[in-house]
Amino acid sequence: MSVPWESLANVHILGIAPYEPGKPIEELERELGLADVIKLASNENPLPPSDRVLKAVTSALAHLNRYPDGSGHYLREALARRHGVTPDHIILGNGSNDLIELVARAFLRAGEEAVIPHPSFVVYPMIVQAVGGIRVVVTLKDYRLDLGAMARAMTPTTKLVFIANPNNPTATIVTADEVEEFMARVPDRAIVVFDEAYIEFAQGPDFPDSLAYLRQGRKVVVLRTFSKAASLAGLRVGYAVADPDCVSLLNRIRQPFNVNSLAQVAALAALQDDSHILECLRMIEAGRHFLYDEFSGMGLKYAPSRANFILLDVGRSASDVFNWLLKEGVIVRPMTSFGMESCLRVTVGTPEENRRFVKALKKVLAGAKSP
Ligand SMILES: Cc1ncc(COP(=O)(O)O)c(C=O)c1O
Repeated sequence: MSVPWESLANVHILGIAPYEPGKPIEELERELGLADVIKLASNENPLPPSDRVLKAVTSALAHLNRYPDGSGHYLREALARRHGVTPDHIILGNGSNDLIELVARAFLRAGEEAVIPHPSFVVYPMIVQAVGGIRVVVTLKDYRLDLGAMARAMTPTTKLVFIANPNNPTATIVTADEVEEFMARVPDRAIVVFDEAYIEFAQGPDFPDSLAYLRQGRKVVVLRTFSKAASLAGLRVGYAVADPDCVSLLNRIRQPFNVNSLAQVAALAALQDDSHILECLRMIEAGRHFLYDEFSGMGLKYAPSRANFILLDVGRSASDVFNWLLKEGVIVRPMTSFGMESCLRVTVGTPEENRRFVKALKKVLAGAKSP
């Protein structure tokens, strides 16, 4: 009998369920023999990258024989200018996901606690567990992060606190006033990670300025990504803004070439292309209102969204509705694994995609289609 692989593994990872990505469009088309499947399951931008970005990427293709710039010099400079900091405040990641992992690996010692909202981004509990940290899970209240409860959950061994703002999967935000009150209760030994992957969709006078806490010398790490508003999910590029001492610790364990050359070129071009972002924001805003009206018309409840997706209560088994929608060629996300048995998370798509989703939803909810 050979030694089982599991007995050789790092014990911390044994309890982790692997991340389940949404089904790729091609796989479902093959399975169902359909040709026009739409995917509203991964909070991607339905618009392709802008022409400026595509041109920049195309001209970089000829240099793929070379490793990328391991320091991400030009992109970090551009990001530093944008945020009014010096480049040593910026670290790039293979998606902001990479940075969540780097922060946990760099700072969370085995047995230390991380305060995690629930339901929220599934990667937080996974990485905390993988490094031997203790997950202190704080349930959302009315679909929003309960910052009061999160502050109360902190103990002398709390090292990290994750604040997804807007939160995934509820698309709700915590406001500037709420964050201010929360930060007043956070001790200097705890690091607050502001995960702002969807910030572009959330802007408004009530949205907190998390970088202000960095300027005040607080222990914060602000995470942003090019995956959502900038339409670059496929290239994997995100970044953190943090104190240079924090960045330098993260750099010790960062893979030398963690952000590929096409991603760097594309992100740099995207930063110079605010018109693409504006177009996308307008489309998502209109799409949210279209979907709200349709949901209300169907008598369905939803959480008003500050992101490019909506949490929708379909009032019956979300996993059934998910499966019926699949047969109509529409991929969404059931929230069953979060314990929200009757909720779906649907990404706002193009106007055409939104109409198709609504049509399919009406059909399956009317019982015209059974599993
Ligand atoms: C809240 C949140 N944070 C971080 C990420 C990671 O994004 P990426 O790694 O593509 O930058 C996601 C992705 O969906 C997310 O929803």
